Amino acid sequence: MNPERIVERQQINQQEYNAIREFLEKSCGIVLGDNKQYLVNSRLAHLMKEQGFASLGDLVKVLYSSRHRKLQLSVIDAMTTNETSWFRDNHPYESLKKIILPDLSDRKIQNAAIWSTACSSGQEPYSVSMSIQEYLRSRPSTLPGVRIVATDISPSILKEAQTGLFDNTSLCRGITEEYKKRYFDSINGQWRIKPIIRDRITFKEINLLQSFFLLGRFDCIFCRNVLIYFSSANKEDIINRLADALKPGGYLYLGGTESIPHYTDRFEAVRFKHGMVYKLKE
Ligand SMILES: C[S@@+](CC[C@H](N)C(=O)[O-])C[C@H]1O[C@@H](n2cnc3c(N)ncnc32)[C@H](O)[C@@H]1O
Repeated sequence: MNPERIVERQQINQQEYNAIREFLEKSCGIVLGDNKQYLVNSRLAHLMKEQGFASLGDLVKVLYSSRHRKLQLSVIDAMTTNETSWFRDNHPYESLKKIILPDLSDRKIQNAAIWSTACSSGQEPYSVSMSIQEYLRSRPSTLPGVRIVATDISPSILKEAQTGLFDNTSLCRGITEEYKKRYFDSINGQWRIKPIIRDRITFKEINLLQSFFLLGRFDCIFCRNVLIYFSSANKEDIINRLADALKPGGYLYLGGTESIPHYTDRFEAVRFKHGMVYKLKE
C-alpha cells in the first residue's frame, strides 16, 4: 500500500492541526483550509519517518522552539508547493521580450534588474534569462549589465535551482528543441543550462513575509503563483512592499489567477493580446 495512505489513517486531532496551520501561516504565509488534514499527513509523512516522530503531536511539541530552526525549515519545505515549468503561461515572456525589454533599452537603462521572487527550482529565472538573451540577439549592444535576482523561501529548492541541471522530463515542460540546443549542454544524461544564461542570475533565500528592502530596486518583478496561498492581509502587505521595491514605471507580473485591484491603486494594468502586466504609476 502507498505509504501516504498508511499515514492518512492516523488521526490528526483539531488542536495539532490548528498548531500546524498557525505555524505555517506565521512562518511562510501559507493558509491551509479547514479540512486539509490529509495534505498535512501526506506531505509530512516522509519527514516524520526520517526524523523519528511517532505522531504529529510529537512534532508539534518541538516545532515552535527556536532551537529547531532546521526542523521548521524542513516542515516549510515539505508543505510548500514547488510546481513550476519553463516559460510558464508564455505571455509574460513574450511581453518581456517584445514590450518591456525594448522599453528599458529605449530608456537607456544601465544595469537593469529583474527579480523572480518565488523561483522554485529555477525555471522562471532561467526562462527570464533566455528571453533576455533572445532579445539581445536582435539588439546586441543594449541593456548593459542586466541582471536577475532569484529568491525563494526554501533553501533546498534554491540549491536545486542553482545547480542549473535538469532532466529530460523537466525540459519537456516548455523547452523547444531549438532552445535545448542553444541554451543547454548535455551532461551524463542530464541538461545543464549554459553559463551565458546562468551567470546573470544571483540566487538568495528570501521569505516574502519578511523585509526585502535590502535587495534594492527593480525594473521588473515576477511574483507568480505564490500569493494564491496567502491571506488577503499578507497579499496586500506584500504587493505594497513589491511596489516599494520597483523603480518608477517598473513592471509586476502575477500568476494567471492572481490580481491586484483590491489591494492597492499604485499600479495600472497593461493588457496584451494574451495576458497582462501591472505597471507602477509614476
Ligand atoms: C508554485 S511555486 C511557483 C514557482 C514560479 N514562480 C512559477 O510561477 O512557476 C511557489 C514557490 O513559492 C515559494 N514560497 C512559498 N512561500 C514563500 C514565501 N513566504 N516566501 C518566498 N517564497 C515562498 C515555494 O517555496 C515555491 O517554490
